[in-house]
Order: sequence, then structure tokens, then C-alpha cells
Amino acid sequence: MGIIALLLLIFSSWLLPNSDAAPKPPIRAVNLGGWLVTEGWIQGFSLFDGIHNNDLLDGTQLQFLSVTQNRYLVADGGGGGAILADRTSASSWETFRLWRINETTFNFRVNGGQFWGLNSTTGVVVAKATTPGPSETFQIVRRDTDKSRVRIRAPNGLFLQAKTMASVTADYGQNTNWSDSDPSVFVANNLGSLYGEYQLCNGYGLANATQVLKKHWSTFINEKDFSFIASSGLNAVRIPVGWWIASDPNPPLPFVGGSLQALDNAFRWAQNYSIGVIVDLHAAPGSQNPYEHSATRDGSQQWGTNDANINQTVQVIEFLATRYANSTALLAIELLNEPLAPVTTLDSLMKYYKDGYYAVRRHTSTPYVIMSNRLNINNQSEILQFAGNFTGAVLDVHYYNLFSSVFDNFTTVQQNIDFVRNNRSAELAAITNKNGSPLTFVGEWSVAWGVNTTNATDYQRFAQVQQDVYGNATFGWAYWTLQNVNAVWNMTYLIKNGVITLKR
Ligand SMILES: *[C@@H]1O[C@H](CO)[C@@H](O)[C@H](O)[C@H]1NC(C)=O
Ligand SMILES: *[C@@H]1O[C@H](CO)[C@@H](O)[C@H](O)[C@H]1NC(C)=O
Ligand SMILES: *[C@@H]1O[C@H](CO)[C@@H](O)[C@H](O)[C@H]1NC(C)=O
Ligand SMILES: *[C@@H]1O[C@H](CO)[C@@H](O)[C@H](O)[C@H]1NC(C)=O
Ligand SMILES: *[C@@H]1O[C@H](CO)[C@@H](O)[C@H](O)[C@H]1NC(C)=O
Ligand SMILES: *[C@@H]1O[C@H](CO)[C@@H](O)[C@H](O)[C@H]1NC(C)=O
Ligand SMILES: *[C@@H]1O[C@H](CO)[C@@H](O)[C@H](O)[C@H]1NC(C)=O
Ligand SMILES: *[C@@H]1O[C@H](CO)[C@@H](O)[C@H](O)[C@H]1NC(C)=O
Ligand SMILES: *[C@@H]1O[C@H](CO)[C@@H](O)[C@H](O)[C@H]1NC(C)=O
Ligand SMILES: *[C@@H]1O[C@H](CO)[C@@H](O)[C@H](O)[C@H]1NC(C)=O
Ligand SMILES: *[C@@H]1O[C@H](CO)[C@@H](O)[C@H](O)[C@H]1NC(C)=O
Ligand SMILES: *[C@@H]1O[C@H](CO)[C@@H](O)[C@H](O)[C@H]1NC(C)=O
Repeated sequence: MGIIALLLLIFSSWLLPNSDAAPKPPIRAVNLGGWLVTEGWIQGFSLFDGIHNNDLLDGTQLQFLSVTQNRYLVADGGGGGAILADRTSASSWETFRLWRINETTFNFRVNGGQFWGLNSTTGVVVAKATTPGPSETFQIVRRDTDKSRVRIRAPNGLFLQAKTMASVTADYGQNTNWSDSDPSVFVANNLGSLYGEYQLCNGYGLANATQVLKKHWSTFINEKDFSFIASSGLNAVRIPVGWWIASDPNPPLPFVGGSLQALDNAFRWAQNYSIGVIVDLHAAPGSQNPYEHSATRDGSQQWGTNDANINQTVQVIEFLATRYANSTALLAIELLNEPLAPVTTLDSLMKYYKDGYYAVRRHTSTPYVIMSNRLNINNQSEILQFAGNFTGAVLDVHYYNLFSSVFDNFTTVQQNIDFVRNNRSAELAAITNKNGSPLTFVGEWSVAWGVNTTNATDYQRFAQVQQDVYGNATFGWAYWTLQNVNAVWNMTYLIKNGVITLKR
């Protein structure tokens, strides 16, 4: 080692954050996914079992076929005009997203963002209102023996009907025998729902959601998991949290309080087992992506579209930094998970990262501050130089062999392994600055893939190549996730069954 290299080493270890108990890079971490931010699939949707009409949650996408016209309802022009009953096939303009008021009462959101509403003068249904009020509130009445056959009661108490293809009117007062000759009967085609925190909390309502989540928080992850994590050779956890944690115990509805207590517990357990904690803001106010794990209500994404929203998010970071600054287990604060381009612009993201970084530093110089790349971008280096300007900054990238057309044609184990060894290692090298700033972090990866195999050796090889390649990340990596009903997403299962082995 030359004298310059030696000096660099001393210099950089002096520059970099340091702490007594939190581990130092390389980090070998596991995500505590589906714990403090709900993702229904992680528990096989069982958390939603107690919700009435749980196939009609916020964000559920419905299409309606008029049985008399044999045509789909459509928001003319995608929104801003009338609802018609004249489409022979259904896609985006014919798809309506629910906002749930209670188990039978809803607003219907059209593609353009407006809501169905009753014009009480004309009696026709239009899609003009940009915020829903009483005129935009409808009831779904389902047939007992076939829940996909529905009628829709308008705010005037009458049922909608498609007398002609040219309009939908709220003027059908009679009972129904549910036959194909009743113009107030529609076949609802349910395209599926979101199963996130918003859906769970609003689906149960405050009292029941509080009960369900309290039980979930205290059973899904507990101190034994931290003992297992430490004994497996992992040295950190990445914990997704939602923005509402900052207003615990009384967050804005429908969110419920109590996740802060669970996070406090996690810090205590982490300290007991010398494990570092990465607090990861997974769901920002307004939602930074359309996925359920950003706690979006209906798949729309608004985060970062104005300064007030960015400021509110900075305050959430400030809250977390204040609360955990003194904990020796605090390894890092991740400012935002998976912001999605193009709705999240590069400018708003950099403004937020700068403000968020200083919000942390106002309280502590110790923890790393993690900045995620945007999803959906070609230039993976777009914030590389920017992030390098901040001492102790880390760039987070997520590497799955899924969620991209790149993998559509992969049919073999070897193709997947080669992709990691060649493409991912090159991608990682391209975002690794020689001067060590920012550090790099593969904050999510898994052994899920498109290959149909049950061969354990295949999975071991896939896990190993990912550990080898992501082991080059200068901050480290985190597996997604610790507990999951699906074995390939369940690191506890994978470690216990020898699919993943950690060198110690
Ligand atoms: C649902 O909300 C509507 C409108 O507020 C109300 O009339 C109805 O009674 C509620 N239904 C239930 C089951 O709570
Ligand atoms: C109802 O429709 C009439 C005729 O198109 C229109 O003049 C009126 O403004 C509408 N009312 C509301 C509340 O939008
Ligand atoms: C159902 O009601 C319609 C009128 O809406 C009537 O024409 C039809 O004969 C009825 N069908 C049955 C099976 O009762
Ligand atoms: C809350 O739970 C109780 C008991 O299971 C149930 O009777 C009630 O209907 C639930 N309330 C809602 C709004 O789901
Ligand atoms: C956001 O915060 C900055 C800095 O504190 C302040 O100058 C700005 O006025 C705030 N903007 C809004 C819309 O709250
Ligand atoms: C952290 O430690 C500082 C200095 O000892 C103290 O002023 C501050 O109140 C502590 N913060 C918390 C949240 O305990
Ligand atoms: C980063 O810092 C360099 C100087 O070190 C400066 O020229 C550049 O503008 C900064 N970039 C950003 C995006 O802040
Ligand atoms: C997948 O294979 C098909 C047929 O060979 C080809 O047209 C397509 O471009 C390939 N897709 C990708 C992402 O490579
Ligand atoms: C794996 O099996 C599923 C379901 O049987 C099938 O749809 C898929 O095409 C198969 N994938 C490969 C790569 O063979
Ligand atoms: C699993 O795959 C490996 C090669 O990756 C092969 O050597 C082994 O025989 C396979 N095991 C089974 C049970 O098919
Ligand atoms: C790790 O990085 C070094 C330097 O870029 C490279 O030579 C090596 O192949 C990488 N290892 C893996 C497993 O990707
Ligand atoms: C994950 O795997 C472990 C070990 O097999 C199992 O005990 C646990 O129940 C699994 N987690 C979930 C959520 O099913």
C-alpha cells in the first residue's frame, strides 16, 4: 500500500460517519417488509380477511357492462364529460377506481381523475367533479346469489339505468328480478385491488384497524427475529415506515397510531443484538409511486408536485432523526423508497434530498443518509454526482430479476445467473464513484425469478451470485424480505433451509 492510499484510508475513515454500536459497511441486511407498512401479499392477504366486501377496497378497478345494452360504461373522453353506455370493449376510459366511504358506499374515479356525479337538474351521470362530495356518492347493491351482478343507487335514492347508449340516468325506482331485461342491472368486472395500508385502515375503520394492526405489529416481527438475524450473520435491518408515523398516536384518517411504538421496540431489540437500523421512508405523503407500498389510495401518485408536500416530508424525516439520533443502533435514514419517474421529477427529488439530508444533519452527523434512484430511468447515474456532494450519503438501487420486459424471454437458470454476473455487476460498477462518495447500496433483492424450478441447488446458485455481485456495493445490501408466506421472498425460510448462507 502506497503512502497516498494509506493517507486516503485514514482521511476517509475520519470523514465517514462513525458510531459506537451500529455496524459499519459492508452491511448485510434484511428488510422488515410488510410490518409497519402493509403489503397484503406478504401475509397472503390474511390481514384483510375481516373487512366486509373486501373485494371493494379503495383503488379497486371496476368495469360495468349494461345487461340491456350489452355495452360498457365509459367516461366520455376519459373524463370531464358524460358517462355513456356505448363501448363494446373495455380498457382505461371504461375502468373506474373506487374510493370507499364504507362497505357499500363509494365514489367512482375515472381515468382523467374526476369522479362520477349526479347532475340533479338533468338526472344524468357525469364525470366532472375533481373532489367528491355528496353528489358523487353512490351505493353498490349486489345480487345475493351472484356478487358480480350489481345495481348502483345514486344520491337521489334512485338506481342508475342505461335506457339508451347515449346516457346513464338516475331514475329507476323499481325493484329488480336481476334479469337481462332490467336496464338498472350491470355486470361488474373486477380487475383487482390494492392491498396497502390505506386499503386496510379505511376498509376496517379506525377502531377495528387499530386492533388488527396492533396485533399484527406485535406478532409478525418480534425480538426473536432480531436474535435470529444476528445469529445468521446479518448485521442490519431496513425498516419501511409510512409518513403517518410522525403524527403517532393520532395520524390523519384513515391511518392509525401505534407503529411508532413498534419502531421503538425494533430499536431496543436492535441494540440488544448489535444490529444496525436503517429507517426507510417507504410511503411519503401523496405517494411517490402508484404501488400499494406507497400507501396510495387508488394508484395515483402526487408526491413532490408542490413545495408544501416536500416540506411535509422533510418534517417526517426531521421527526425520525430527532427521535432516534441518540440511539446507537441508528445506522441510516433512507429519505424515500422507489420514487417513480416521470411523475417524480429529478428537480423535486433533488430539492427534497438536499432538504432531507440537512434535516438529518441538524440532529446528528453519525448516520448515513440514503437516497434512492428513481424507478423508470435509463440513466442510473442521474443523481450520482449530486449525492456525492453530501458526506455520508448512500445511493440505493433495487435489483430484481423481475418487473421488466428484459426478463420476459429468460427461461433458464443460467440466463438469470449470467444477467446478475454480467449486467448487474456492470451497472453497479457504473454507479460506484472511485472516491467512495456516495456509497452504494442494493437495498432490495430476492431469489424470485421467472424460472419454474423447485431445485434447491438452482436457488442456492442464484442467491450466491447475487451475494457475490451485490457484495461489491460499497455500503452493502438488504434482502427483501424477512418474513413472507411465499418461501422465495422469506429470508428466514431461505436461511433455515440452507438456500442462503452468510459467510461469517
Ligand atoms: C355508508 O355510508 C352511507 C352514506 O354516509 C350511509 O347512508 C350508510 O348508512 C352507511 N352504511 C354503513 C353500512 O355504514
Ligand atoms: C347540470 O347540467 C346542466 C345542463 O347541462 C348544466 O347547465 C348545469 O350546470 C349542470 N349542473 C351542475 C351542478 O353541474
Ligand atoms: C323480470 O322483469 C322484467 C321487467 O323488468 C320482465 O320483463 C321479465 O319478464 C322479468 N323476468 C322474470 C324471469 O321474472
Ligand atoms: C368491527 O369489528 C366488529 C367485531 O368483529 C364487527 O362487528 C364490526 O362490524 C366491525 N366494523 C366494521 C366497520 O367493519
Ligand atoms: C418550504 O420550506 C422552505 C424552507 O423551510 C420555505 O422557505 C418554504 O416557504 C416552504 N414552502 C411551503 C410551500 O411551505
Ligand atoms: C439526545 O441527546 C441530546 C444530548 O444529550 C439531548 O439534548 C436530547 O434531548 C436527546 N434527544 C432525545 C430524543 O432523547
Ligand atoms: C456538487 O458539488 C459540485 C462541487 O463539488 C458542484 O459543482 C455541483 O454543482 C454540485 N452538484 C449538485 C447537483 O449539487
Ligand atoms: C423477446 O423475444 C421476442 C421473440 O424472439 C422478441 O421479439 C423480443 O424483442 C424479445 N424481448 C426482449 C425484451 O428481449
Ligand atoms: C412457468 O409456469 C407458468 C405457469 O404454469 C407459465 O405461465 C410460465 O410461462 C412458465 N415460465 C417458464 C419460464 O417456463
Ligand atoms: C438440481 O440442479 C443441479 C444443477 O444446477 C443438478 O446437478 C441436480 O441434479 C438437480 N437436482 C435435482 C433433484 O433435479
Ligand atoms: C467486484 O468489483 C470488481 C472491481 O470493479 C470487479 O473486478 C469484480 O469482478 C466484481 N465482482 C463481482 C462478483 O461482480
Ligand atoms: C417464513 O419462513 C419461516 C421458516 O420456515 C416460517 O416459520 C414463517 O412462518 C414464514 N413466514 C411467513 C409469514 O409465512
